[in-house]
Amino acid sequence: MSDPAPPAETLAEQLLEHARRAATLAHAPYSRFRVGAAVVAGGRVFTGCNVENASYGLCMCAERVAAFKAISEGEKQLSSVAVSCIDADTSLGPEGRMPCGACRQVLAELGSPDLPVFVDGAGSFTLAELLPQAFRLR
Ligand code: THU
Repeated sequence: MSDPAPPAETLAEQLLEHARRAATLAHAPYSRFRVGAAVVAGGRVFTGCNVENASYGLCMCAERVAAFKAISEGEKQLSSVAVSCIDADTSLGPEGRMPCGACRQVLAELGSPDLPVFVDGAGSFTLAELLPQAFRLR
């Protein structure tokens, strides 16, 4: 007999733990703001961290690293996402921990509007809540 699927809270917590671990690998010498992300795609977990550059415009967010790893390994669709900003100021509200607009647009390309996005210290959202009326080319 197979084990029952884990409850949603367990999936969120497990994925957030992957994201927190990924954040410790960040290359963030300029902002000193480490971010980790974990995505599930095709039943596999892919992680990413932010990777900064001395030419600031080239900095890459953790969410996009994780999402692009999944796609570049052959996956087609993300089924859940977790993000952790382990250096976020604890006195700030959720806004200091939320995925940026660019990452929301990338997630909209690769996941459905009901894609669950678990944000450490801020809660669980669907992608449609984070980016209503996303731009799409059909
Ligand atoms: N960052 C992310 O990794 N994800 C986001 O959604 C927001 C910002 C990174 C980019 C940069 O390395 C640092 O956080 C400060 O902006």
